[in-house]
Amino acid sequence: MTYLGKLRLGVNIDHVATVRNARGSAWPDPLRAALLAEMAGADGITAHLREDRRHILDSDIAALKAGLGIPLNFECAATDEMQAIALATQPHAVCLVPEKRTERTTEGGLDVAGDENRLAHFIAPLKAAGARVSMFIGHDPRQIEASARIGAAVVELHTGHYSDLHAEGHFAQAEAELHALQKGATLAHALGLEVHAGHGLTYDNVGPIAAIPEVMELNIGHFLIGEAIFLGLEDALAEMRHRMDLARSQA
Ligand code: PXP
Repeated sequence: MTYLGKLRLGVNIDHVATVRNARGSAWPDPLRAALLAEMAGADGITAHLREDRRHILDSDIAALKAGLGIPLNFECAATDEMQAIALATQPHAVCLVPEKRTERTTEGGLDVAGDENRLAHFIAPLKAAGARVSMFIGHDPRQIEASARIGAAVVELHTGHYSDLHAEGHFAQAEAELHALQKGATLAHALGLEVHAGHGLTYDNVGPIAAIPEVMELNIGHFLIGEAIFLGLEDALAEMRHRMDLARSQA
């Protein structure tokens, strides 16, 4: 596999809104964080409008779309309500994720293979409106192949399991999961899909994911926003970028 170009960094600003909503106040403002990330070299901003509006609100999506100079990646569940908001907002990209009310974060990947017909119809108007539609899935070849069949432009591979294994010190299992992600990326690329990855990525675990040559973009949120408390968002982002680029250049 040859080097496929610079790895993009999408910054997920959901948890700026989490802190704001903890007090029901107007700050910290997710748009301000997004603009700071843009100035610090982020390639895109990701925001997940959850059905329960626990962090990002509809007004945040409108403000991000109006205020950002870099692409907005609108993350949502595949529901009629979210489809209507996506069509009204016209973001650069729409990333479809599974959503459970009781989960703390997006726990697994979308079951594209099990919902192929509905999802094919669901994404058609989004594609017609010019959005790059992405499926947030695990590395299971069945899910990757189904994503290609329904005409998604992108798959984002869920790195949450890899990240958890790494954090718990199960390094051999993390390595096996990494290998499966690598194979998934190769398959997706061969099927003509653009490959992204994200969930649970930190300074310590980002390197091997950044080194997967087919991966074109990483979406990182929780760790970066947390680290920004200590370093400031600009420096936190610069350190992540440094680690991504180093791993990429050594791959
Ligand atoms: N990509 C997707 C599709 C996600 O759902 C999330 C979490 O909202 C992320 C990336 C970012 O994950 P994290 O906040 O753990 O970095």
